[in-house]
Amino acid sequence: MQKRQFIKDILLTGMALPLGFNGIAKAFANQSHLAPEALAADNAFWEQIRNQYLLKPDYINLENGYYNFLPQPLLNKYIEHIKEINYQGSYYMRTVQWENKQKSVIELAAIAGCSPEELIITRNTTESLDTIIGGIHWQTGDEAIMAEQDYGAMLDMFKLVSDRYGVVNKFVSVPNHPKDDDEIVALYKNAITAKTKVILVSHMINITGQILPIKKISEMAHQHGVQVIVDGAHAFAHIQYSIADLGCDYYAASLHKWLSVPLGAGILFVKKDLIKNIWPLIGDGEKDPNKIKRLNHTGTHPVHTDLTIPDSIAYYQMIGPAKKEARLRWLQQYWTSQVKDNPSIILNTPTDAARACAISNVGIKGMKPAVLAERLMKEHKIFTVAIDYANVHGCRITPNLYTTTKELDQFVQALHSLAKA
Ligand SMILES: Cc1ncc(COP(=O)(O)O)c(C=O)c1O
Repeated sequence: MQKRQFIKDILLTGMALPLGFNGIAKAFANQSHLAPEALAADNAFWEQIRNQYLLKPDYINLENGYYNFLPQPLLNKYIEHIKEINYQGSYYMRTVQWENKQKSVIELAAIAGCSPEELIITRNTTESLDTIIGGIHWQTGDEAIMAEQDYGAMLDMFKLVSDRYGVVNKFVSVPNHPKDDDEIVALYKNAITAKTKVILVSHMINITGQILPIKKISEMAHQHGVQVIVDGAHAFAHIQYSIADLGCDYYAASLHKWLSVPLGAGILFVKKDLIKNIWPLIGDGEKDPNKIKRLNHTGTHPVHTDLTIPDSIAYYQMIGPAKKEARLRWLQQYWTSQVKDNPSIILNTPTDAARACAISNVGIKGMKPAVLAERLMKEHKIFTVAIDYANVHGCRITPNLYTTTKELDQFVQALHSLAKA
């Protein structure tokens, strides 16, 4: 074995040992010579990841977009942290609570590609983005651009600032099958006026899984003096990117989605020189206007969730970000490629590999999405979620790393038979 490879394998195995997943870590280490795309198609290999999950036998779960429940080694870690916090009580809270949280921030910043001084751990994407949307120093008549396909809670928050400060909200509609990046960039560009202050844009649209060209949108917006807020709820630890490279001003994500952190953790990135311009949602004792800590006050919260973040990161690193992304995309393409030519089946997600990963959306001509979701569950024991607004009428389909091709075959068969009926 090459010396460098040997060291890499040892590191991977070593990282996993304290979590009790050394077996699976070894399996990944043994495959480390394979390119992510080659490993993506090795179903027998991924079966080992499936074995790490306790799965309900009642249905096939193709709704992993809401949150990614934990594989058993991470669940065990989480339970250990709960026990430890309950054992230490206030002593923990008054001693190393903040030091530990900061260690997690440093690890998260390394994955996100930003400085730890620009990142905080919040409870979720909603808290992160609403801190920014509500905290901007709005003037009456300022304009904000967003998409019909953005997440409802953010649109509700913009409605609130519109009612409160007289902000004018302008909507674009993102096509499900864009020709190219330029079409998307032009969509946002054409909505900009001299009064535009910010653009809210989803990194991965939650109802279709479409990935938007954030870097190009940020470059265009900055040329017009407009700031960019990115909703990355679904992108973090799903696809690979660096916030520095995206060039946006604010970025938020939920860690209980693709990083498999227990429920109740998110991140907020704010560009260093913009921190001072945001009103905090909740007041904090931090007096330095340039310290991001002043945006981070929530009061007492479940610190055992925060403590599990480094474990979830170790698990993610053990799999490898590139391998995870490649397998998730492979699974999506495995089933979409088998239905895309059926004229009664409508894919609401781009088929171009670079424009989607695990998540996609499918509808059946003449069938309401709610009916499709109900029939999939009742007749085929397949759990999905119906989406029926804007230009998206179908069920969101989200496999996870534990999903098998056998499950997807059942889903494909179900779709074809429902489309015939
Ligand atoms: C695009 C998008 N933004 C924000 C959220 C909100 O995430 P959370 O409930 O974790 O705040 C979601 C949740 O699904 C989402 O899909």
